[in-house]
Amino acid sequence: MAATPTPADKFSFGLWTVGWNAQDQFGSASRPWLDPVESVHKLAELGAAHVTFHDDDVVPFGSDDAERDRILARFKQALTDTGITVEMVTTNTFSHPIFKDGAFTSNDRRVRRYGLRKVIRNVDLAAELGADTFVMWGGREGAEYDSAKDLNAAHDRYAEGIDTVAAYIKEKGYGLRIAIEPKPNEPRGDILLPTIGHALGLIAKLEHGDIVGLNPETGHEQMAGLNYTSGIAEALWAGKLFHIDLNGQRSIKYDQDLVFGHGDLFSAFATVDLIENGFPGGGPRYDGPRHFDYKPSRTEDFTGVWDSAQANMSTYLLLKERALAFRADPEVQEALEAAGVLELAQPTLGEGETLADLLADRSAYEDFDVDAVAERGFGFVRLNQLALEHALGAR
Ligand code: GCO
Ligand code: MN
Ligand code: MN
Repeated sequence: MAATPTPADKFSFGLWTVGWNAQDQFGSASRPWLDPVESVHKLAELGAAHVTFHDDDVVPFGSDDAERDRILARFKQALTDTGITVEMVTTNTFSHPIFKDGAFTSNDRRVRRYGLRKVIRNVDLAAELGADTFVMWGGREGAEYDSAKDLNAAHDRYAEGIDTVAAYIKEKGYGLRIAIEPKPNEPRGDILLPTIGHALGLIAKLEHGDIVGLNPETGHEQMAGLNYTSGIAEALWAGKLFHIDLNGQRSIKYDQDLVFGHGDLFSAFATVDLIENGFPGGGPRYDGPRHFDYKPSRTEDFTGVWDSAQANMSTYLLLKERALAFRADPEVQEALEAAGVLELAQPTLGEGETLADLLADRSAYEDFDVDAVAERGFGFVRLNQLALEHALGAR
């Protein structure tokens, strides 16, 4: 049994996760509506520190101002009563049919203007509640057909939308950063900014890109057959890992949103190892909330919902314990050394050395014994087996 979670573990849950009523493409809801206030209390009891939400998760779409105020007052009371804080807020720009062709990139300009208003209103709420991160998951920004979108204009409009929101955050002096959440497909056939790398490319072109980063989700990268840990590693390297969505996914298929570790467990071990231990040679670290974005399976009743919430945290803590043991093991340190993992942090050119110096260094090329050096075995398999044995608790 893993250690009991405490707020110091910085666990965070989307209210739409435990609150999902399990309605899917093929069947109606298998669980009743769950009051967000109840979720806040229950998550606090289980040891979580934070919650996150879409505007519509707390205040139903179309509520009038008086209703909105009443609901928010009650919600804030639950936060005060439990000590739970809101670390991230996001906007639902995908459920209502108005967003069927997207929000920031809808072909219909009226929808783009409406979408921007909905997002800006939610930025104010995020700031009011003291959130640090404002996530943008553009689930409907995309198309099913190549002829349906002018993709040059779509990227212009996407950038325009994000820059407008970022400029507003700065103008208001809010302590918020925007985090884009990539996803390759679902609900659209193809979604814009499908992977971490695509999103980094767009951020680099933004006027206010300094406050725009990423919220990568485990399953979304894995849906594209990509390695989540290496994706968040690049985001860290780029100084852009603002937030994370942890969950589980088993191979390239629909978005499963399983409990963290219930998909590719060994990959989850690598993710926790990176988050908790950092890169072997040092470098940027992720210090933000450990945020879970999963869906309690449709087969579960409310007992199963809370069991699954707990499972995310237990799995994370178990993997953390294993990852710490992995790095602390002298045999692992020796294997890392032997595999050259630590040597990679050393720049290829020496200090003050120029390319001309390298070109003049005969030992690097003319007199270099390519065949002899090529004989080196790196020992990566041994290292990986040590990781696996630690992950399984066999060491
Ligand atoms: C998904 C996404 C969403 C987003 C959330 C934030 O369903 O594929 O992961 O859960 O994370 O909507 O805006
Ligand atoms: Mn998902
Ligand atoms: Mn997500």
